[in-house]
Amino acid sequence: MNKPSQMMMNQAVESLLDRVPNPCVGEELSRVEGPLKVSGTATYAAEYKFDEEILHGFLVSASIAKGTVESIDEDSATAIDGVVAVVTDFKAFIRNSQQGGEKKAPTQGVKDVDYFGQPIALVVANTFEAAREGAAALKVSYKEQQGAFDFIAELDKRELLTSGNDKPEHKNNPDEGLANADVKVDSIYVTPSQNSAAMEPHATIAEWKGDQLTLHCSMQMLSTCKQQICDALDLKPDNVRLISRYVGGGFGSKLGISPESIAAAIAAKQLKRPVKVVMHRIQVFESTVRRTNTRQRLALGADRNGRIHTIIHNTICSNLPEETFFEPTAIATHFSYSGQNREVKYEMVRMNQVLAGSMRAPGEAVGMLALECAMDELAVKLDMDPVELRKLNEPVIDPSKEIPFSTRKLSDTLDYGAKHFGWGKRHKQPACQREGDWLIGMGMASAMRSNMLKPSVARVTLTPNAHAIVETDMTDIGTGTYTVLTQIAADLLGLPVSQVEVRLGDTDFPPAAGSGGSVGACSSGSSVYVACKKVRDTLAKALGVDADNLTLHDGQASGNGMSKPITELIEDDIVTLGMIEPGKTSMDYTQASYGAHFAEVAVNVITGETRIRRMLGVFTAGRILNEKTARSQCYGGMVFGIGAALMEELLHDPRNGRLLNHDLAEYHVPVNADVPPIDVVFLPERDPYANPLHAKGLGELGISGAGAAIANAIYNATGIRLYEYPLTLDKLLDQLPAI
Ligand code: MOS
Repeated sequence: MNKPSQMMMNQAVESLLDRVPNPCVGEELSRVEGPLKVSGTATYAAEYKFDEEILHGFLVSASIAKGTVESIDEDSATAIDGVVAVVTDFKAFIRNSQQGGEKKAPTQGVKDVDYFGQPIALVVANTFEAAREGAAALKVSYKEQQGAFDFIAELDKRELLTSGNDKPEHKNNPDEGLANADVKVDSIYVTPSQNSAAMEPHATIAEWKGDQLTLHCSMQMLSTCKQQICDALDLKPDNVRLISRYVGGGFGSKLGISPESIAAAIAAKQLKRPVKVVMHRIQVFESTVRRTNTRQRLALGADRNGRIHTIIHNTICSNLPEETFFEPTAIATHFSYSGQNREVKYEMVRMNQVLAGSMRAPGEAVGMLALECAMDELAVKLDMDPVELRKLNEPVIDPSKEIPFSTRKLSDTLDYGAKHFGWGKRHKQPACQREGDWLIGMGMASAMRSNMLKPSVARVTLTPNAHAIVETDMTDIGTGTYTVLTQIAADLLGLPVSQVEVRLGDTDFPPAAGSGGSVGACSSGSSVYVACKKVRDTLAKALGVDADNLTLHDGQASGNGMSKPITELIEDDIVTLGMIEPGKTSMDYTQASYGAHFAEVAVNVITGETRIRRMLGVFTAGRILNEKTARSQCYGGMVFGIGAALMEELLHDPRNGRLLNHDLAEYHVPVNADVPPIDVVFLPERDPYANPLHAKGLGELGISGAGAAIANAIYNATGIRLYEYPLTLDKLLDQLPAI
């Protein structure tokens, strides 16, 4: 294979996409894989068919939350008809799932139990039903220890965190600034543990051919997951292949490997047959990843005119012993609003609960539930419009790092949103708009989400009959990757989309960033851009023109007055590798996507029930690659915002660490009946510092701030400010105005 053509983002770059006649990028192209999905022929991890009979494994979950496994009575399971074996490996089975992007195995060793539901063995049988029955019948004896199950009781033992996925900050004099502020707010916001609750459960089919292991799996980031698998099982990269062509959602819970993958691989090796392990929904809740609960102190100090000079955002979160991930709640707070005095602090409480990790905009999603409500409180105290307060405190440069923003159009989104939502009709005085038993109110919040670029490689092949094939191990987790990569290649190669085929989700293809942290489309899309640029160079040479003068359109190459069909310029396949890498522009510029959320709610004055009436999200995220898939991403994010504000709460029993609501019946997420008409608008923007597409991350922008707009609307409707999410009716009841 030839060496990749590389591009490193060290300065602003031009985008070839701006020179494409009749571009497809940006258009509302429907999902190219849509027909496969709606006809049930898109193959998800657990749906692969094999010539030989495969075996089914069911994970055995620990029934204690802290202690050790003393013994496993295998006969208790193998006595059941159809059960083939009880498989475990106390050393190699993984205890915790892995975090996204890690290159090594997660914590292994399952003799020691650290949380309730931790997988300790796999019962393998000829049928799924027999495996499940065997797992239920398996007798395990434990030596139990006292664990840490009560967050409040453990609070005193919290540790200060000094490094990790966000940097603590202390700038000038935050304490003094707050003490001397003309106007201030200083509150504790509490957010609960949450679960990603993706539709498709975590699942793996492991198959060995000699020393070659293939895993059909459901993972978001294949190249790093492969490294984790290799490390966990001590295998060479050449001997492992992961395939995740379609993924039924992940939302962070599939960024790293989870226990079923290693269990399936070990069982398949031992039993010399492919083994399929699909997690039960309860296991998805109990043994993959949760979002940590948080306690956030959010303090703002301003002068009488509303100029903020002090921002304090300190967070306490939780995780398993020794795990380093913490929720970077203040990741957007650093660059959110002006103010010379700033403090960000993180503390950790060690709990015997399922691993805490990334979930749907880790950081901003719950951090902005505090920050953006505190902004609303401050606006009330200042007797100022919350939109105006935000605009007044719009920083010119990043107030924390003191470097410029690449692009920042927050004010534009606020103005546009206020105008189109009818913000002017909002009653400034809370609890004074009533329709029958319903109190009506409006709220708003800013949206901010950091933009990143991650190294990615793609291969592009242009065939002599002018068909393009794009290959990368990037995944499509329902986000639209297949579609946007098709559009990028079609535009840059001047082909109709029907002549572009995108192949994803296979580690036999060049390694991409994967789907996580809203980096997927821009990172993998840029690698496709670089590979296509190289193809263009070859075509320009064949036509005899300078690459800068080449126009490719509708299968035709032209330049310098010449024009030829692409098919006449190629004899053999043109194969190129393109690689994008982050460079100086990610250090020298603060890059983020922005937006404004508006919500109107009705709160029942008798029952305290909140119904959302309408929502508007106005966003800027650089070039929008596909209006339709982008809008769908933002709809999804805003629906998550409804969940975070009103419903989602993973409850642990403080006596024994058991999850009390470990399925979709008891863990409430918004359903259609909870979701009002939502409008999503993108304002035009290009970010030449971000990448050659001039696009920025979008996937997690929609959730960031959405829940806060709802909380602020509830305040406006009722005059009640709640600090403990989710904002359920029981918390409002005793404060509602008299009927
Ligand atoms: Mo996202 S939480 O990075 O899948």
